[in-house]
Amino acid sequence: MTLLVTGGAGFIGANFVLDWLAASEEPIINLDKLTYAGNPETLASLQGNARHQLVQGDIGDSVLVSRLLAEHRPGAVINFAAESHVDRSIHGPGAFIDTNIVGTFHLLESVRGYWSALPEAEQAAFRFLHVSTDEVYGSLAKGDPAFAETHRYEPNSPYSASKAASDHLVRAWHHTYGLPVLTTNCSNNYGPYHFPEKLIPLMIVNALAGKPLPVYGDGMQIRDWLYVKDHCSAIRRVLEAGRLGETYNVGGWNEKPNIEIVQTICRLLDGLRPKADGSSYASQITYVTDRPGHDRRYAIDARKLEAELGWKPAETFESGIRKTVEWYLANPEWVQHVQSGAYREWVQQHYSAA
Ligand code: NAD
Ligand code: TYD
Repeated sequence: MTLLVTGGAGFIGANFVLDWLAASEEPIINLDKLTYAGNPETLASLQGNARHQLVQGDIGDSVLVSRLLAEHRPGAVINFAAESHVDRSIHGPGAFIDTNIVGTFHLLESVRGYWSALPEAEQAAFRFLHVSTDEVYGSLAKGDPAFAETHRYEPNSPYSASKAASDHLVRAWHHTYGLPVLTTNCSNNYGPYHFPEKLIPLMIVNALAGKPLPVYGDGMQIRDWLYVKDHCSAIRRVLEAGRLGETYNVGGWNEKPNIEIVQTICRLLDGLRPKADGSSYASQITYVTDRPGHDRRYAIDARKLEAELGWKPAETFESGIRKTVEWYLANPEWVQHVQSGAYREWVQQHYSAA
């Protein structure tokens, strides 16, 4: 079975593509617009691999997507493509509406056209898996139970509102047209190849550069962290055995306040790469103005995925965060290229619209 993955040059998509190709014989067509967040250098180890083809393009380009579907006849589409950063969505929500809502709509229509013309057996086996977030459920107060799949949608940021809208479209395409969809709503991911605009990679990179570690507000906002490779294994499991039209929450029961995350990173770096002057990286922590509309707490109840499909995360937060810090220490060129924009030049040189 060929897979069509969208957004497979981004953080989670690229980890998924690398893991999938390492573990299976099945090829991947990787459609990615290569925005600032799409980095083909992450996929450099796949150069020359006949089972992977990266195509630069937009999920909203119906002509391109329909052509890729007709040419490669994938048995499944996994939609990672999105604008994903809350702070960017506050400064410029337009791109979030364009890709996350309108783009998903066009993708669903292209996929529906392809799927409805498939022979019966292929039609029955086909899957469209939509990768979404716990942020669609809104914010929890201290002591509230974790988000279950039945929690009402109450998105608070332009990012989460656009993802919520895309989830609703996916649901409607199942109920109205019978498109065989699956949706996953995952908590905050961390791990290798994470763009250093998000909390964990930003703190590692800034700490090493001797820069301030900007903690928003009081630093007591809570996120529920999952190592990215555990998210990828959950997606593989849902693709394999998820019930059509269902949503599955993905999380690892790792709620932590932001300040604790930053302190843990500083402690690990103090041990792995001590500062020359003997001071702790924690001395770089700086409290800054809070994010507008900042959600206070996210927590995922992942019992459905565990009970129905037997999925469990492989990493604890302690093992995952250590691996992550070690990865950033071992891959300074990747970080440097992302920061210098060198990978944008690489994109210009190596890829052009298909
Ligand atoms: P990312 O920003 O790192 O990557 C997004 C990728 O999508 C990039 O490669 C980008 O070039 C591509 N893209 C953007 N617009 C596109 C378009 N119109 N057409 C084709 N490609 C396009 O994001 P990520 O962190 O890897 O997140 C992937 C998915 O997982 C998103 O849908 C996000 O909402 C969801 N998610 C993320 C997290 C998290 O913690 N990062 C948690 C839960 C769910
Ligand atoms: P982020 O990684 O942007 O993910 P999300 O907003 O999708 O949860 O942020 C995680 C948490 O860290 C969130 O509560 C905001 C906070 N944060 C900071 O305190 N400082 C920062 O510089 C960033 C990027 C985030």
